[in-house]
Amino acid sequence: MSASKRQIALVGFLQAQNCTTIPAAWRHPEARHDVTSVDFYQHIAKVLERGLFDLGFFDDRLAMPDMYGGDHRHTVENGIRCVKLDAVTVLTTMGMVTKNLGLGATYSTTYFPPFHVARLFATLDHMSGGRAAWNVVTSVNDNEAKNMGLDEAPAHDVRYDQADEFMEIVHGHWDTWEADAVVADRASGLYARGDMVHRLDHEGPHYRSRGPFTVPRTPQGHPVVIQAGQSGRGVEFASRWGELLFMSNPSLSRAKENYVAVKSAIEANGRDPDQVKIANLTFPVVGRTMSEAEDRRAAYDLLPNLIDDLSLLSEGLNFDFSEKALEEPLSEEDVAAMTGIQGIRNQVIEVTGNQTPSVKDFVEVSGRGRLAHPVVGGPTELADYFEEWFTAPACDGFVIAGTHMPGAFEDFVDLVVPELQRRGLFRTEYSGSTLRDNLGLTQPVPGAWRR
Ligand SMILES: Cc1cc2nc3c(=O)[nH]c(=O)nc-3n(C[C@H](O)[C@H](O)[C@H](O)COP(=O)(O)O)c2cc1C
Repeated sequence: MSASKRQIALVGFLQAQNCTTIPAAWRHPEARHDVTSVDFYQHIAKVLERGLFDLGFFDDRLAMPDMYGGDHRHTVENGIRCVKLDAVTVLTTMGMVTKNLGLGATYSTTYFPPFHVARLFATLDHMSGGRAAWNVVTSVNDNEAKNMGLDEAPAHDVRYDQADEFMEIVHGHWDTWEADAVVADRASGLYARGDMVHRLDHEGPHYRSRGPFTVPRTPQGHPVVIQAGQSGRGVEFASRWGELLFMSNPSLSRAKENYVAVKSAIEANGRDPDQVKIANLTFPVVGRTMSEAEDRRAAYDLLPNLIDDLSLLSEGLNFDFSEKALEEPLSEEDVAAMTGIQGIRNQVIEVTGNQTPSVKDFVEVSGRGRLAHPVVGGPTELADYFEEWFTAPACDGFVIAGTHMPGAFEDFVDLVVPELQRRGLFRTEYSGSTLRDNLGLTQPVPGAWRR
């Protein structure tokens, strides 16, 4: 296989919580429940590295999904993502038992100061030898705001405007130390060259941050920036800043359209589209054979509850669905009041062809809370699917989500990865020690982000 052949990027979708994105995951007979233990996460890290995954990445939310009925009892009783640990701390433990696996975590631009986030991820990049990635989100709901000192989440586009300025500060700080600023010469008494360490002196509409930054330039130049905005404003932001983009597409044809549209938006921003990788969210249900996989899927479908769906819809859309009966159409005001993840709302309106869908429509179309659109099969069927999407091209790689932990990743690594390798679609060894090396991303040129 030639070294330059285009290869699939694989991202393990991780949650530092009691379940995967699907609440029912903890009810799975093979799910481990020691989710506050180091061993749980270190085991997953080793599995992903055995499967030569580019990275494991943790999502985040700064509140329990307790918007439904304004009460957390249902959240904790049903185990609906009610445990949520700090992902960077968890990643550090995973980095200690791996050498090549990239380590990504989500941090919100709305609730943390840019200096702090810049320092946190720069430190992780040093501590991991150049394997850090930051998934930039602007957060979605008012319960996060209430936990973090505000009454409500800022409006959707305001969050993104603020996030643009946030990114300018973070990149500015990451560029503070020129690559060879540190000399540490005992003989001359010079630790670092004063003219190679710069102060940012940022003063903008939302933030002030002076500097100088306190972390020297990192092994990757700076951590890899991940983004997953799906709305118009979100895609604009992603194509300006993201180096690894996550998309969730309902069909191959839509994924192909979005792939072209996003790559063009990246180019329109003066960036090289080949230097931005797009990974599509995928829920595999793997068996040794198709029929085993189908049995596994059928068994899994018995695990979710309606309350899982309603709770996650409420928190995702920032709207309390408990006020309405299941079959009752929502009003235009209700739909307008959904200020969370716009992609969910838009998809339900599009699929139903109805501007005021019912609660049931939201449950059924969004599939939120369940295993909605899994890819079910044995190694051959799964590899066929990945090959088709990758070569279309509809994406450069896949975000592999889990039905249950850690078994879903173990099955994927043992059954699907060898078949992808056999077809020459996936690496047989890591190409380098940094996450950028493995993703095929070059080192960022200081200041290039100012375009
Ligand atoms: C694979 C994947 C992972 C995501 N992880 C998070 C997350 O951890 N936290 C979050 O608030 N949003 C997450 N999102 C959602 C997006 O980052 C974004 O917040 C959401 O699409 C809303 O932005 P939009 O209104 O621009 O669509 C994720 C999306 C995808 C496809």
